Amino acid sequence: MFVCRTCRQTVQRVCGQHSATYVQWPSRACVTAGRGSFEQRRGVHNTRVQCQSLRTRLLQNKTNLDVSLTKGAGISASSSLQGSAEENAQKFQRPMAQTTIDEEEVKKFSNLAELWWDEAGEFEALHSMNELRVPLIRDALVNQRQQESEGTVRPSLPLEGFQILDVGSGGGILSEPLARLGALVVGVDASEENIKIAQAHVMHDPKVARNIKYIQATVEDLVGTEEEKFDAVVTSEVVEHVADVPTFVTACCQLVKPGGSIFLTTLNKTYLSYALGVVVAENLLRLVSPGTHDWNKFISPQDLQYILDQNDFSTRLLHGMMYNPLMKRWSWIKNTSVNYAIHAVKAT
Ligand SMILES: C[S@@+](CC[C@H](N)C(=O)[O-])C[C@H]1O[C@@H](n2cnc3c(N)ncnc32)[C@H](O)[C@@H]1O
Repeated sequence: MFVCRTCRQTVQRVCGQHSATYVQWPSRACVTAGRGSFEQRRGVHNTRVQCQSLRTRLLQNKTNLDVSLTKGAGISASSSLQGSAEENAQKFQRPMAQTTIDEEEVKKFSNLAELWWDEAGEFEALHSMNELRVPLIRDALVNQRQQESEGTVRPSLPLEGFQILDVGSGGGILSEPLARLGALVVGVDASEENIKIAQAHVMHDPKVARNIKYIQATVEDLVGTEEEKFDAVVTSEVVEHVADVPTFVTACCQLVKPGGSIFLTTLNKTYLSYALGVVVAENLLRLVSPGTHDWNKFISPQDLQYILDQNDFSTRLLHGMMYNPLMKRWSWIKNTSVNYAIHAVKAT
């Protein structure tokens, strides 16, 4: 069920031209009461039924798109694709880059490779992020399977039967728990040192090792060579380190099966993300080494969703994440202005 973010009324509407269900926010009641305007927020975006002509028409009209949906893990999702078609086209419609590797970035992680499994060290925040991202991925995939099989499939491990590609897998901090839940995981990373550490670490747990294959590669290397497509592609805290985001995300999208999922976590490009994600996290609290993040590489959820949208994905969940450095724990928050996660599903 889709609801207005303000008044919680159901706001499904039907596209007059195509009889397709789409979603709008705010609701008519809110507009009437002055809590939003269709002019500003003529955010009609079809999330249930692909209605390409409607979408194209809206983009042509330079309309802001806005999505509000509540779905998955009790977390509300909201997003808005800002910017006109022209602006977005200028930003993103250019030739694909040859490589997504930023050598300097990969070198930074190669130099830290020995530290991947020090749970109280450089990658402490990534270890602790598993508390959010592992259940997010697990619940989304399990829910989807339950819907598709009408609850008849009950594997012994929740992710049994799923093939997941973890892009930018680093030392395997996320790959391992996903494999432990039963998924067959392929972890790819541009850094040879990271892959070696990941391979060595997983050998401590032979049961998990059976479910994981690590490859030194970029995602674009896999497109065209890997015949199988994945039920899900996961790329967590990687987008902000690649050389070309549209090329990177497009390649990730190409490796997802129709109806499959992509999960991304990254940092928004806001003043607040500069203050907290760079100045405070790196220079004041030293949560990660100074220089870990280049703010210019951060990307807004709207821009990321635009790229996903172009690849025939619809957003199921967009949510903010916040790290508490005292508790050393992450929590979900509505605000996406610093860290955020996106789950999107490919059209069937
Ligand atoms: C911050 S780490 C995230 C590691 C892992 N996803 C996690 O959350 O635990 C970023 C990783 O992305 C890798 N990376 C950067 N650019 C890449 C690219 N173009 N292709 C594949 N991996 C890349 C780096 O080598 C590094 O291991």
